Amino acid sequence: MALDFSKVLIAPSVLAADFANLGAQVRAVEAAGADWIHLDVMDGHFVDNISFGPAFCAAVRKQVAIPTDIHLMIERPDHYLERFLPSANNVTVHVEAQHDVGTTLQRIREADCEAGLSLRPGTPFEAVEPYLDQIDLLLVMTVEPGFGGQPFLPEMVSKIEAAAAIRARRGLAFHIQVDGGINAPQASQCVAAGANVLVAGTSVFGKPDYAEVFGKPDYAEAIRALR
Ligand code: DX5
Ligand code: ZN
Repeated sequence: MALDFSKVLIAPSVLAADFANLGAQVRAVEAAGADWIHLDVMDGHFVDNISFGPAFCAAVRKQVAIPTDIHLMIERPDHYLERFLPSANNVTVHVEAQHDVGTTLQRIREADCEAGLSLRPGTPFEAVEPYLDQIDLLLVMTVEPGFGGQPFLPEMVSKIEAAAAIRARRGLAFHIQVDGGINAPQASQCVAAGANVLVAGTSVFGKPDYAEVFGKPDYAEAIRALR
């Protein structure tokens, strides 16, 4: 089936949600028009933070009907992959992690999930080039992975352009997703460069103290602004 890259998809990242009200929060962003739910898995090795694991992803999956998009920021995605596949529509692994990248991508597709590949800001675009015909999604990190709420790195826009150009030249079909520091201005910049899936943590769920200062965030308005 041909993928449609003309529509901009919004994937709120639950990393920025209130975990104590997880079910209500993910149902609310789904009702507000989110296209996918993004789940950031961190192991304390690949990145300097620990987030959540397979049971958490399974719990989120039960709450929503929209696709779940699992981003594995872990050192051994090959070892843990099977535990996440049942809760995923898409699984994205990092090219810098310790695994045979081609084999992991193949296993994701064999499980009828979409296979994503990501690269950190410091990794040159060339590192992912050998795998572009084996993926359904390329995730260009626009911050150093590990934490929400960091500022967008504008130098990453050239990677989005490189990905869109090579996709067109080679007649390939993969989504171009961006993740980190995406607010409305960065969203337009990334879409203009060729991105069609926008991950958004803080700009949808708000900063931790947002509700106290401004009241409940308006998820529908946040999603509309990004789109
Ligand atoms: C960062 C994660 C992101 C993060 C984005 O390591 O991969 O998905 O949640 O958060 P914001 O949108 O706040 O930068
Ligand atoms: Zn992410």
